[in-house]
Parts: sequence; C-alpha cells; structure tokens
Amino acid sequence: MSKYLNFILFCNVAFITNLILIEAAYCPGKPSPSAQPNLNPIIDEKPLLVSEIKNAKLYTVGSGDDLIKIVHLWGTPYEMGYAHATIAMSEMYQFFAYVWTFIESQIKSSLNGNTEGFFKDEFLKLVADNGLELALEIESNKTEIYISNHFLEEIQGMADAAGIDPKAYKQFYMISELGKTSSSMFGAWGLAIPSVEGLLQLGAIDWGTDSGFQNVPQITVYHPNKDSSTNGHDFANIGWSGWIGSFQGYSSKKLAVSQIGVSYPDISFGEESLYGTPFTYVLRDILQFDSTFDDAFNRIKNAKRTSNLILGIGDGKINKFNSIQYSASVANCMDDTTLKPDADWHPKITNVVYHGVDWLCPSFNQVMAGQITKLYGNLTTENAIRDVTSIVQTGSLLVTYYDFENDVIYTANARGYEEEGPENAYERSFVKIKMNDLFSELPPNL
Ligand SMILES: *[C@@H]1O[C@H](CO)[C@@H](O)[C@H](O)[C@H]1NC(C)=O
Ligand SMILES: *[C@@H]1O[C@H](CO)[C@@H](O)[C@H](O)[C@H]1NC(C)=O
Repeated sequence: MSKYLNFILFCNVAFITNLILIEAAYCPGKPSPSAQPNLNPIIDEKPLLVSEIKNAKLYTVGSGDDLIKIVHLWGTPYEMGYAHATIAMSEMYQFFAYVWTFIESQIKSSLNGNTEGFFKDEFLKLVADNGLELALEIESNKTEIYISNHFLEEIQGMADAAGIDPKAYKQFYMISELGKTSSSMFGAWGLAIPSVEGLLQLGAIDWGTDSGFQNVPQITVYHPNKDSSTNGHDFANIGWSGWIGSFQGYSSKKLAVSQIGVSYPDISFGEESLYGTPFTYVLRDILQFDSTFDDAFNRIKNAKRTSNLILGIGDGKINKFNSIQYSASVANCMDDTTLKPDADWHPKITNVVYHGVDWLCPSFNQVMAGQITKLYGNLTTENAIRDVTSIVQTGSLLVTYYDFENDVIYTANARGYEEEGPENAYERSFVKIKMNDLFSELPPNL
C-alpha cells in the first residue's frame, strides 16, 4: 500500500495537466472495418437446478463455455443478502478479488494518463491525496446518508454470512460510482421492428475482457417478501456474483435498464459530484420499486445524482424507451425526435433511440446508425446480435438484449479465463432466458 501511495503522489502533477487536455475531446478508437457478423447459434435451454438452501436456489443456464449462474433469493433484504453470500460465496470472493485488481490497474493507468476519462477527476484527486482504500472510505462515509436502508440491511446480511465487516462491502460497492464504464444502448419500436407491438432494448458494457468479471457471470433474481408493497416486486439483476447494484436488469413490471458511463461529455452535462446516491443503486431501485416509465424518470429526477451518464429506461407495457442525460446538474429525457448529441455523426432515426459507447463518440455512433438503418423494419434480437453489436464491436464484457414482447432476454459474457471461443461478449453465443419463468420460481421447500 505505501509503495502504491508513493507512486500516486509522484503522478499527481501529471494528472492535473491531463485534465486540461481532455476537455471537449472525442472518444478514442473505432470499430474495425473488418468486424464480422456474429453467426453463433443462440442457446435456448431450460435452467438446471444445482442447489438450494434456505431463501435461495442456484441454477445454471447455457452450457459449456457459455454457462451463466442464476441465483434466486427470497425474504427480507437481510435474508436475501445472507442467502446470496451463502449460496455464491466462492464466486463472490473471486469477483471481489477481480474487481479490486482491475480497479487498481485502471487507477494506475488513469494517473499515468493512459486511460483518460475512466475515473471521475475528483475521485482521482482523492486517491492521489489519500490512497485508494482511504478514498473509498471517505466516499462511503459521505454517501451513506443517500443510500436506502434496504441496501444497508442486504449488505449486513452478506457480511454476516461471509464473516466480514460490512464496512468493507459498503466501500467496495462505491467502486462503480468512481469509474466510467463505456457502454452502448438502444431502444427500438414501431417502424423499426417487424412486429406492430413490441420493444427491443440493448445494454452493452465495454469494460474490456481482462477484468475477470466474466468468470463469475450471474443473474440474481430477487423475490422480496410480498407481505408489504413497500418491499418491491420481483426483478432480475444482470451482472456478477455478489454484485448488488445494477448496470443491467429487467423487472416483473417489464421495466429494463441500460447505462453508459460518459467520459467524453460536452458542457450540457454541467457538474459532476462525488457525493450522492450511487447510480447503480438508483437503477436497482427502478427495477425493484417502480412500475412505470414515469415512476422511473421521477426517481431519477429526484435523486441526489452524481456521475455523468446516459441511462436507458424501457417500459414494455407501453413500448416506450427513452434515454436520459444524467449528471449532478441535469436529468434530460431524450426520445427519437429529441435525441442528443445533435450532430451529423448521430443522425435521428424514427422510433429508435441509440448511443454508441460514449456521448461525444462519432466513430461508434456512425457505425451503429448504419447497422440499425440497414436492418430498419426488421430489427429483431437475432438480427441485432448478428449485425449490430458485432459490427459496432460494442459490449466486450457483457451484452444483454431485452425483448419485451416475448418477455425474454438474450445475454452473453466475455470469454472466461478457462474458456474457449471468441474473446468479446458480442462475438459469442447468446443465452436466451424466459423472464416469466424466473419470476414465477417457487421458494425452496426448506
Ligand atoms: C468513516 O466513518 C467511520 C465510522 O463512523 C469512522 O470511524 C471513520 O474514521 C470514518 N473515516 C473517514 C476517512 O472519515
Ligand atoms: C428479416 O430478417 C430475417 C432473419 O434474418 C430474414 O430471413 C428476412 O429475409 C428479413 N426480412 C426482410 C424483409 O429483410
């Protein structure tokens, strides 16, 4: 730790100069012109029960190198946290180890000026001044008042099951607040898709394939106690073992979320803040407590917001998808007619809202617009898996398509360390999952 601290102090000066250079820049990189369509078969199998304990069941879905765990949880927040850490303990430990290593390497790289924009500037300064562990403690202490009790109870349950100080988890979960996950999203309906009814939504996370997260993919299905409506409803959090905030997810109210961390904003974002409700908790509360798009947008408007992001909210009951420009200062809804940024490299497409990789990101948005236009009117999940994410080369770590009309999701993770096949999630076989089957799962008879 002290060796690390020296390194950071040394880099402090370099970091400050970098800040000025990255203002108003465009995102780096572009899709390869020789990107290939994804022709892998879609895996459509029933989940298999592996084990059950009090308040939890563990299933796997998919096979071989495309296996995903599904963990069902029942009870109070405390009971669900306790059962989660009990049934997925070794995967959870692995996930925490991967995250820690990944974040440390990203911070070093950011302080070196190699991964510009990945972290909030204010957080890098906090780390530069205090070291990573203390920075997370400061962040965690200052944000606790913005975090709902049910999260703290769930964390307490996990900590008790694992025999760990809950403070460690609270601090650990701050990490998503401090990094910028470049990602992509779209929502398509009406004229864009073959069916008259329906909504297709994409969430694609580009965190690289070396983070190790893909070794422990997990869909966590929460079944909160039904004795009071204030406990929320059933929903699926799509992520990794032990992860309780949301980047992607789908609820029994047919609301789904996507997100993009913005490293290349323009001035319309205004200010960022380090202290507020972590956005992954805002997204999770949408899945757990909100019934309609308007509920979700009100939650976002009223939240003590922090980071620069683009959020995507789909409501499959009314086939509505909007993206939301999100920062401490603003919460602006965008539909297909008001889509931003307004630029020739980001053309408006009727009945489609889309964002490729970042906000000011011509290279990826142009290719995404091109692929969506090519499939226009015939944009189905299968076609988008084949020709959109694969050709835009977005979703290196985790890609999920939500097909609301059929109440199914299709999801793929990057190649795990021990696995074969293509490296990036967008090149691999997707696993199809029927969401109503997940939400109607019965609790263990124990
Ligand atoms: C965080 O809060 C704990 C408990 O209140 C306290 O002991 C600790 O000193 C605080 N840490 C910082 C860095 O403020
Ligand atoms: C729509 O996509 C399907 C599947 O790729 C294809 O078979 C069909 O020909 C397409 N229809 C049109 C009108 O392009």
